[in-house]
Amino acid sequence: MKVIKAANYVDLSKKAAALIAAQIIRDPSSVLGLATGSTPVGVYSELAELCGQGVIDFACVTTVNLDEYCGLPAEHPQSYAQFMRQKLFDHVNIAKSNTHLPDGMAKDAEVECLRYERLIEGLGGIDLQLLGIGRNGHIGFNEPGESFAPGTHQTGLAKDTLDANSRFFGPGEKVPTQAFSMGIGTIMRARSILLIASGSDKTWALDKTINGPVTPQVPASVLQFHRDVTVIYCD
Ligand code: GLP
Repeated sequence: MKVIKAANYVDLSKKAAALIAAQIIRDPSSVLGLATGSTPVGVYSELAELCGQGVIDFACVTTVNLDEYCGLPAEHPQSYAQFMRQKLFDHVNIAKSNTHLPDGMAKDAEVECLRYERLIEGLGGIDLQLLGIGRNGHIGFNEPGESFAPGTHQTGLAKDTLDANSRFFGPGEKVPTQAFSMGIGTIMRARSILLIASGSDKTWALDKTINGPVTPQVPASVLQFHRDVTVIYCD
């Protein structure tokens, strides 16, 4: 694991965007695994800027997102599909048909999870997976538990995650309690991984991820077993 301390959030965003840009320059047909949450917002705006300057070109890039809330249609303001459009896809020259997320409205969860896993396989796997991290050490929506999920699955969200994510929902709006998420196995099959974390509420999770025992109680700790992980963090 390469661990880089950034000076601040802007520096973190620029450094992470530079690594993603390098991946796109090396391979213009890259498959990028993308993340939601507040942490990657700065990375996405840096990428949009680099694209505007002609440094990177998304024309042949394909993206697969980590997760999506169950029960929210892609048009819902709080869906991750909408988040990705607002923060990145609408600002770069990516073909919308090359952007993929689990379908939060899928009727049959099992079929949807299999479809998503096959889609990623069919794309030849993920070249670079961007990850945020939950305060409890979750990645995607792989919450602390008894085992590591091998593939895309439907999962209930931990109380801490519901509390943390409720800030994005209006008063009276219910935070979805279920989501589709790539599994730990899906994430670990990515050829390289870039984890970003900002702020003191992530210190515990980050410490356990980097220095703690590998345990499904801290899902991100499994990244210690991956051969190409870069962590960029700031206070
Ligand atoms: C959500 C997402 C995760 C993300 C986490 C942290 O639960 N499913 O992928 O890493 O939030 O979000 P934030 O960056 O807002 O702290």
